[in-house]
Amino acid sequence: MQSTTKSWIYALLYLTLITISLYLIQVWILSDALMVSYHRITSKKHPNLPLRFNSDGNFKILQVADMHFGTGITRCRDVLSSEFQWCSDLNTTLFLKRMIEAEKPDFIAFTGDNIFGSSTNDAAESLFKAFGPAMDSRLPWAAVLGNHDQESTMNRQELMSFISLMDYSLSQPNPPTKDPSDPTKQVVKTDIDGFGNYDLSVWGAPGSHLANQTILNLFFLDSGDRAVVNGIRTYGWIKESQLSWLRDVSKGHNKQENHQSQDITMVPTPPPALAFFHIPIPEIRYGPFRQIVGEYHENVACSFVNSGVLQTFVSMGDVKAVFIGHDHLNDFCGNLDGIWFCYGGGFGYHGYGKAGVSRRARVILAELKKGKNEWMGVETIKTWKRIDDDKLTKIDEQILWTST
Ligand SMILES: *[C@@H]1O[C@H](CO)[C@@H](O)[C@H](O)[C@H]1NC(C)=O
Ligand SMILES: *[C@@H]1O[C@H](CO)[C@@H](O)[C@H](O)[C@H]1NC(C)=O
Repeated sequence: MQSTTKSWIYALLYLTLITISLYLIQVWILSDALMVSYHRITSKKHPNLPLRFNSDGNFKILQVADMHFGTGITRCRDVLSSEFQWCSDLNTTLFLKRMIEAEKPDFIAFTGDNIFGSSTNDAAESLFKAFGPAMDSRLPWAAVLGNHDQESTMNRQELMSFISLMDYSLSQPNPPTKDPSDPTKQVVKTDIDGFGNYDLSVWGAPGSHLANQTILNLFFLDSGDRAVVNGIRTYGWIKESQLSWLRDVSKGHNKQENHQSQDITMVPTPPPALAFFHIPIPEIRYGPFRQIVGEYHENVACSFVNSGVLQTFVSMGDVKAVFIGHDHLNDFCGNLDGIWFCYGGGFGYHGYGKAGVSRRARVILAELKKGKNEWMGVETIKTWKRIDDDKLTKIDEQILWTST
């Protein structure tokens, strides 16, 4: 009897010792490794939301058009022969880092052909490298697709889902909509063409009476890749389903409420909006432009299908300026029916360009009106570009819109 009790006590002590040892091994040795890899796999880092104007009354966007990123070491195209040997995708990375450092934007908008599918055999790796500087900067950013992004291991739907899960990304595969079977739930809208149609709202300056209201909207649209119409090959275009969604969003903004208070402050007119997509609309090819600022060095490559994007924007009334990519040698802003359409200009070194002509990026600055004691709504929208030379020279500054 006594010896049984003894062996029970020994067994218990033994068990306690083993438990303590296992616990210590777990805490001291394994947990760090386990926790770190767990976080890496499962959690996306989120930027501070909502997007809002700074206390200095500004909201600055860096537009990056056509990075055409390959593997990270793919060679540059169309640079001088003296530059060729030491030039790769890493120059695109460096340019992006320098632009972020120089302009300190509040947000980065990538307008497609972010990766050059045909130059990489791993879309995920290419995306991580291409958007790396944006993620490292911890700035909120968003992207749409061009016509080349899907040319490797991911289709357009997979690309947008993947991009939406990257750190600090505000990109969405498509806009949210009410679940028909349960109206209290939101699901991704499926009855819309393309992937990467969404709207981001920017709220007023902290402390102002517009602090909890949207005072600037950013529309992102998928302009597709390629298509065959009546046996003829052409580029993609923005479809009626997308325009109809956009009209609804814009109408909704027209009677928006103060987001966080009982007091329903109607905003009299929809706040100004900016639109971002990749492929130019046909009117950019055929004009007539009222005015042009910047370089117009190649034919506009667009679809021959005109789905009425310009007409839609004109009738909505809130879109003041549109930012596109696709034609790397065009970096101009041209005014069509009172709306400015601006190219970003080729950014990436692995995309085509012109030897001796610097790669470039566009900056967009929205400035608020100063009231008696506080910031009001958007007063001015300006833009300029910087070229990738030693000084990141600033060029072609212009005003795109003023509220009065
Ligand atoms: C690319 O980057 C390398 C290394 O920083 C630099 O030496 C070279 O001049 C850059 N080339 C171009 C065309 O900017
Ligand atoms: C905005 O929302 C914050 C947080 O809910 C609140 O403290 C603040 O008073 C609101 N400001 C206005 C102008 O409604």
